[in-house]
Amino acid sequence: MPKEIRVRAPAKINLGLSVGPLRPDGYHDLATVFHAVTLFDDLTVRTGAPGSGIALTMIGADDVSTGPDNLACRAATLLADHVGRAPDVEIAITKAIPVAGGMAGGSADAAGVLVALDALWHLGLGRAELASLGAALGSDVPFAVHGGTVVGTGRGERLTPVLARGEFHWVVALSDDGLSTPGVYREIDRLRAQQSVPEPVVSDDLMQALRSGDPEALGRSLSNDLQEAALSLRPRLGMLLEAGLDNGALGGIVSGSGPTCVFLARDREAALTCAIGLTMSGLIAGVRTVTGPAPGARVVPG
Ligand code: C5P
Repeated sequence: MPKEIRVRAPAKINLGLSVGPLRPDGYHDLATVFHAVTLFDDLTVRTGAPGSGIALTMIGADDVSTGPDNLACRAATLLADHVGRAPDVEIAITKAIPVAGGMAGGSADAAGVLVALDALWHLGLGRAELASLGAALGSDVPFAVHGGTVVGTGRGERLTPVLARGEFHWVVALSDDGLSTPGVYREIDRLRAQQSVPEPVVSDDLMQALRSGDPEALGRSLSNDLQEAALSLRPRLGMLLEAGLDNGALGGIVSGSGPTCVFLARDREAALTCAIGLTMSGLIAGVRTVTGPAPGARVVPG
């Protein structure tokens, strides 16, 4: 029997996402609070036959390439090169995180592969080294390895722990069509072309809300600089944000570059009520109720 490892990797939302000016390398400096939630992609990684290379299959993501450009394959190649071995592995991913949804699903898969291969190949690299390797794959990969609630700076790859209390209940409203992350960043640059853009900061209100664990305060302090750009590209998200508040949410924002929207509820029951209301509104393709913070990519025992 070939040995296999199962890993669960979480989706992220950004509780605050402050975007600085466009950098010469095409990225933007960010000041963000990442928050992992209990919406997981499931990965199974097995040893492949010698010389077989990387074989990737995906369930629940029909339009996504399973070739070498997929972030999961790139993660396997990167780690194999790093430790000097052949990347002969079979990777099977069952997607729950929306594709091109602003929840870093591709980054979660890359983080999942790094964690799975570390275990499968008995590398013992540890989370810090895997996260630092992951930064070469994408700005959100280090956070997907780390999980929890963490401040991200730089491109988002530099992580600093924050003092955050409590468990929060979220309603995740899914859209049919994704938005391209580079496209949303281009749109924010276009919208801000005539403005001087300040350096990014995490608001004191948000940090205080996290320290207190008070969902009402957190609901008031959610913010996302990319929201304006996502709404400009997808104006009907405005109606969805209003519908979430009409259905009792304490706050609602576009998640990352969108188009997924997330709503903070007072408790589990309020989250279910809001989810039902949003489903009945006919504005969304699907809804999930989740909690955060969730752990980063982890091996599932057994
Ligand atoms: O790092 P990642 O490959 O996930 O980034 C995807 C794209 O998102 C980048 O090519 C860039 O256009 C945009 N981006 C950015 N600033 C960041 C992170 C991402 O402009 N901090």
